Amino acid sequence: MNKKVIAINSSKRKRNTHQLLEQLKNQLKEKHIEVEILNLFDYEIQECIGCEVCLRKGNCSLKDDHSLLMKKLTEYDGLVLSTPVYMGNVSGKLKVFVDRTCKWFHRPELVGIPVLSVATTSASGLGDTFKTLESVAIQWGAFPTDRIARQVKDLHISLEEKEYRQFLKHLNQPKSKYKPSMKQVIHFQVQKVLAEKVLPIDKDYWQQQGWTDKGYFYDSKAALTTKAFGNLFYRFLSSRVKKVGE
Ligand SMILES: Cc1cc2nc3c(=O)[nH]c(=O)nc-3n(C[C@H](O)[C@H](O)[C@H](O)COP(=O)(O)O)c2cc1C
Repeated sequence: MNKKVIAINSSKRKRNTHQLLEQLKNQLKEKHIEVEILNLFDYEIQECIGCEVCLRKGNCSLKDDHSLLMKKLTEYDGLVLSTPVYMGNVSGKLKVFVDRTCKWFHRPELVGIPVLSVATTSASGLGDTFKTLESVAIQWGAFPTDRIARQVKDLHISLEEKEYRQFLKHLNQPKSKYKPSMKQVIHFQVQKVLAEKVLPIDKDYWQQQGWTDKGYFYDSKAALTTKAFGNLFYRFLSSRVKKVGE
């Protein structure tokens, strides 16, 4: 079956960043990978009001297009997160969208999905922008792969396959071949402790997914030292965090 990728464009203009996504879409089509571009500005996405209902109960209390978009994101084999650099980081529209996905930090739904990060800029801010995009991927349980960047002056330079090779590789191989970093393993262990100690809804979800006995979401190529340190870290943190309600 052909792989399906969703590419999020978070600029209102369908210009520099969108143009890169269109190139990517055309190139991946030749490899029988279908890319759907989703323009966040086509949807109503209200700002998070901080009620935490999504965390404690599961569903957001706001009525707009956001829950539909979250459901949609779970239906693809790969994800492209793209943004113009605004004030040294991601666009506001993307940040508003991401804030509303907070329940995925507790109950991740994009586990094992490779993420390709794309950003365009006049000149500066790419480093922090990519860090934000990759941190979001990790918080969702997905994992970051390549970074595609263009300054405005270089937009005429065509996309080359080497710029998204890792993304392609992971799209076409089982997630068990992925090697999570120490940061990702520690992140997993933190999420696990929170799931076990803080919200009952998280604990149920983690148990259903079979993650509570694991050192990462799935069997992976994590280095032995990374796994061992992750387990030690889990034991230490778990002994320090009190169960809510106790
Ligand atoms: C509100 C705003 C903030 C921006 N901030 C930066 C910035 O911090 N650094 C930079 O080099 N370019 C900055 N730019 C330029 C954009 O990143 C650049 O033009 C980008 O390619 C626009 O992408 P788009 O055509 O997809 O909207 C900014 C542009 C806007 C409109």
